[in-house]
Amino acid sequence: MTKKILMCSPDYFDIEYEINPWMSTKNQVQSIEAMDQWKKLYDIYVNKLGWEVKLIDPIEKLPDMVFTANGALVINGKVALPTFRAPDRQPETKLFRKWFEDNGYTEFLEPKYDFEGEGDALLWNDTLFAGFPWRSDQACHNELRDFFGIKLVSLQLADARFYHLDTCLTIVDKETVAIWPGAFTEKSIKRIHEIVPNVIEASDEDTLAYGLNAMSDGKNIVLSDKAYGLIEKYRQKGMNVFTVPISEYQKSGGGVKCLTLELRD
Ligand code: ARG
Repeated sequence: MTKKILMCSPDYFDIEYEINPWMSTKNQVQSIEAMDQWKKLYDIYVNKLGWEVKLIDPIEKLPDMVFTANGALVINGKVALPTFRAPDRQPETKLFRKWFEDNGYTEFLEPKYDFEGEGDALLWNDTLFAGFPWRSDQACHNELRDFFGIKLVSLQLADARFYHLDTCLTIVDKETVAIWPGAFTEKSIKRIHEIVPNVIEASDEDTLAYGLNAMSDGKNIVLSDKAYGLIEKYRQKGMNVFTVPISEYQKSGGGVKCLTLELRD
């Protein structure tokens, strides 16, 4: 299935502040390496998978804009914009809004409560899995339900290292998600098992390598080249597996999925 996505070139990507446990201003990004890794991902999407990739201009002093997953959640052409928890990222919202306006989108939600876009909201069939509390408030879930008119399942995250839902849960296909159980409360793990027929468990190593921060269309999956166990599992499932190095983005607490926003028009 072909996808349309939004990405942002890492021209100004850097670690200028610390807003999650992975970020340290002492652990600087190698800019050439970061550009190379981003281009490899872009190349897979465009040339290997034939997906349509749109670009938003990067802006100086907004180093995390490269993580477009946090820029919105788009379903049926409706756009829920982010209300970022960290003041450092708050200026991004109006830039994403402008991009969507310039590209013909007209229906917007600017949530009252904190909400960090697809980083904390992953669509599985017609169910939206929504994570809280590290970076999004549970209270935004009702705003999302009302705006999209969608079935939403709140999932409580329990390990600060996996602060966005997309760091510990992958939508694999219509029957399958992959998770790292350690990142969720008992109750939330139970909910996932009640709803999804096939739940793949990632190892600690694969999860720490950001292997769950992945993009799948059900047949093709793109993930970190260091998530060896998951790579093997997806191959055994018969999927086409594409791997990319993401070391520079991991310094910022990001990976494949964080660099990708799905535009469901
Ligand atoms: N440094 C960024 C932040 O803390 C990383 C965002 C990762 N994005 C994601 N969708 N998990 O906001």
